[in-house]
Amino acid sequence: MPLSMLSLSLRVAILRSVQPYPEHSKAGGRKFVTKILENDPNAITPVLETLFAREGKIIQELLTRKKGTTVSELLENFSLNNLASELQNKAPNIWKALTVLSENPTRKKGVHRNQSLVFATICAMVSILRSQKANNFQAVISMFLIGCGSAKREMEVLAHAGLCLSYTATMKHLRALSAEATAKYRAVIRSCMCSIVWDNLNIAFRVGEQRLNSGNHFDNGTTATLLKLWDPYLRSMFTAHGTLPLTMKPPRTSANPRFEFSDDQILPSPQNITELTDCCIWQLKRIALENIGGLEHLKKAFEACPEVDQIHVHVTEQFSLPAMHEEESSIEGTIRIYVMILRHLGVTNADLEKHGLLFNDGDLLTDNLVDKVEAARRNSEQPIEGMKAAIRRFGIFHAKMAGCRLVINEHWGKPNSKHPGSGLWWENNYLNQKNIVAGWQSSKAAPWKPSHELLQISLAAHVVDGFRLFCGQDDLDQWAQRATKEDFNRVTEEVYNNLFSTHAYHKLRKRPHRDTTFENAILYNRDALIYIEIVHAIKAGDIGRVVNVFKVWMVMMRSKKTMPKYADAIFETLGRLATYPEKLRKFFLHNWLVNLTGKPNSFKEIDLLQEHQNFWAKVIYNAKGSNRSWDWLSMITVCIYELRNAMRTVQKNFEISSFGTQHTIPDMTKEVMYLVQALKDNRIQSYVENRETNQYIDPKRDLLEDGSKNLGQVEATVGDSAEAQEESEATERDDYEITLEDLAVDNEEPYGDFDNIMSFIDAMD
Ligand SMILES: *[C@@H]1O[C@H](CO)[C@@H](O)[C@H](O)[C@H]1NC(C)=O
Ligand SMILES: *[C@@H]1O[C@H](CO)[C@@H](O)[C@H](O)[C@H]1NC(C)=O
Ligand SMILES: *[C@@H]1O[C@H](CO)[C@@H](O)[C@H](O)[C@H]1NC(C)=O
Ligand SMILES: *[C@@H]1O[C@H](CO)[C@@H](O)[C@H](O)[C@H]1NC(C)=O
Ligand SMILES: *[C@@H]1O[C@H](CO)[C@@H](O)[C@H](O)[C@H]1NC(C)=O
Ligand SMILES: *[C@@H]1O[C@H](CO)[C@@H](O)[C@H](O)[C@H]1NC(C)=O
Repeated sequence: MPLSMLSLSLRVAILRSVQPYPEHSKAGGRKFVTKILENDPNAITPVLETLFAREGKIIQELLTRKKGTTVSELLENFSLNNLASELQNKAPNIWKALTVLSENPTRKKGVHRNQSLVFATICAMVSILRSQKANNFQAVISMFLIGCGSAKREMEVLAHAGLCLSYTATMKHLRALSAEATAKYRAVIRSCMCSIVWDNLNIAFRVGEQRLNSGNHFDNGTTATLLKLWDPYLRSMFTAHGTLPLTMKPPRTSANPRFEFSDDQILPSPQNITELTDCCIWQLKRIALENIGGLEHLKKAFEACPEVDQIHVHVTEQFSLPAMHEEESSIEGTIRIYVMILRHLGVTNADLEKHGLLFNDGDLLTDNLVDKVEAARRNSEQPIEGMKAAIRRFGIFHAKMAGCRLVINEHWGKPNSKHPGSGLWWENNYLNQKNIVAGWQSSKAAPWKPSHELLQISLAAHVVDGFRLFCGQDDLDQWAQRATKEDFNRVTEEVYNNLFSTHAYHKLRKRPHRDTTFENAILYNRDALIYIEIVHAIKAGDIGRVVNVFKVWMVMMRSKKTMPKYADAIFETLGRLATYPEKLRKFFLHNWLVNLTGKPNSFKEIDLLQEHQNFWAKVIYNAKGSNRSWDWLSMITVCIYELRNAMRTVQKNFEISSFGTQHTIPDMTKEVMYLVQALKDNRIQSYVENRETNQYIDPKRDLLEDGSKNLGQVEATVGDSAEAQEESEATERDDYEITLEDLAVDNEEPYGDFDNIMSFIDAMD
């Protein structure tokens, strides 16, 4: 609206905002100006015009970037805070005008908007009217909208309002961002050694959005990530090409992998059992300190968990690669994916030779398929086509979830059993938690997140009850308040020896009258504690502790009708590791977990990273409306983390606090205490000679003992044991489909608007 059309009162308002000229006093100046306005209401307009034109130009400059600024730089440097203070300094009259305009003395005090955010936005909207190039703000908002999965129609409306770029311009910026990211990952693999991970992506393509009942179809593709390799010797994020030459990989000579190893290298050695036991005892202490009131005075002196093979502190860098419309489920598909990834990376056979060995991570299926390709191509000399550089690793996240299912399924008990102590079904039901479908008979794999939480609550209750039983006093709280470190350590040992160890179980079995309820409780305690240990070992980044649990799981998973595929994978991996030169082994182990955020206790599994990427790919890909395609997906997946960071930045800049703040781990104290009481009332963790309910409670297997009976058989048939094949035909249990809930357990990921995102994805599928 032209200034001449401004009403008188408005002009007075603007005038009041104009900074007084130095030669007049404030009051005098105002009187002077008011006088002029009385005589000629239009007299001030030219002055204002000059003033505002000058500041408008400044605003335009503030929101225009230097030639050659990349979109990534723009996103990285974006700060509304800085913009607001610069505007305030350099365009004080406009700022003041806005302030006066928005003042409303009659408005009730209450929740106030942060006006500088609104003013900065207004200025940005004005700046794009002055010049299409003065679009710093709009470009960032556009990337934010793409990152949120906004559709074209939403963006067009906001673009017309001046808040973001037009859809076409948005796409142009997105393509630039994607090209920048592509150049970046190519430069990375040209400069240093890296590893890759890939995963299946199942995504819905909606054909013909307009028509009702037009069938969505699901396409299977693959997403991939490049990671810089950590050098555990030089403790550097830069590993020179050729550090692990191709010749370090023992040649594949047969269809089934064969290797020389000693039992110590694969089976849990006495040393490994001691290490695992020490860590499990430490976990007991940690759980006790967290759950028993009165022990606070011991927390300070509580030492860290014993280390076995700690990965040194570092920050891993990851680079997303283009999504591929190629399915890995066959040998041919896997070869095509491998070749395509290396093509995207711009790596030729000669380059790969120079680069050296290339670790590749993935879930069990990927591991298995790459193994088959290696076998099929073992006579090829080509580094890429012959997979001469590939060093496989199965994903620890998937393995951890499998271990969780092992515990849940084995100790589930009979669903609908009314008898306390009959198993986890009973505990879950008693705690009034949502029902979980679990147990070995179940046709569906138990969902991870609720299982994981149930184990945490349940194990804590079993630990607290154990301390009550062995503290030697009637009142646990009173004991706790006075307990010295020595008392605490002594009781922990007692609890471990009597309630959490195989030894305790064997002792109990020797009794003339069996108490199956108590026996089962001990086996459960032991198995659940081992699971909790690996969860913590992963976060801490102690790969030795992780491997120790794998060794034990490998034995347990040999029990009939459990998880032979995982048992095989662990066995084969440890066997293969044993054949590697020490240097390769160390690189393998010390790059099996990554630390992205630079926070303590924040190591995570590489296959989990890929699952997060898949999630964001599904969200962002929505933005293309009916034009979704694999080309589009390939382009956006490359800059997926830049887009996600743009989301974080913008939300943070607009002070949306729910976002980016870590959702706190739910407080489980109430549940734990409720269950503690039930364990006590029903004497679940004490020997009861003639427990009436024992007639309904079948003895559980000792998975360790059961599994070790079948070990010989594995060694003979590594890779494709008869049972694994039978299993894979009978069920897809090992191929658990990860849910969004599972991903949100990782509290570093911004699944802040979790419920919204959930319903959004549901609507999409
Ligand atoms: C972004 O910020 C960095 C560091 O603050 C600075 O060196 C760089 O020049 C900035 N880039 C742009 C385009 O402003
Ligand atoms: C309003 O936002 C600005 C810029 O982001 C910030 O510096 C200021 O602290 C905020 N004020 C309030 C009251 O939140
Ligand atoms: C994708 O994979 C799923 C199972 O993994 C399968 O049911 C579906 O038919 C596949 N879709 C296509 C288009 O190949
Ligand atoms: C397990 O035991 C073996 C032999 O006793 C030892 O070399 C190894 O370091 C131990 N720890 C792990 C994690 O393998
Ligand atoms: C991850 O890296 C950061 C930065 O080097 C470090 O401060 C943090 O302790 C690391 N986390 C772990 C668990 O080592
Ligand atoms: C789809 O693509 C066509 C041609 O490239 C374009 O004209 C149209 O606007 C696009 N529609 C959407 C919703 O992106």
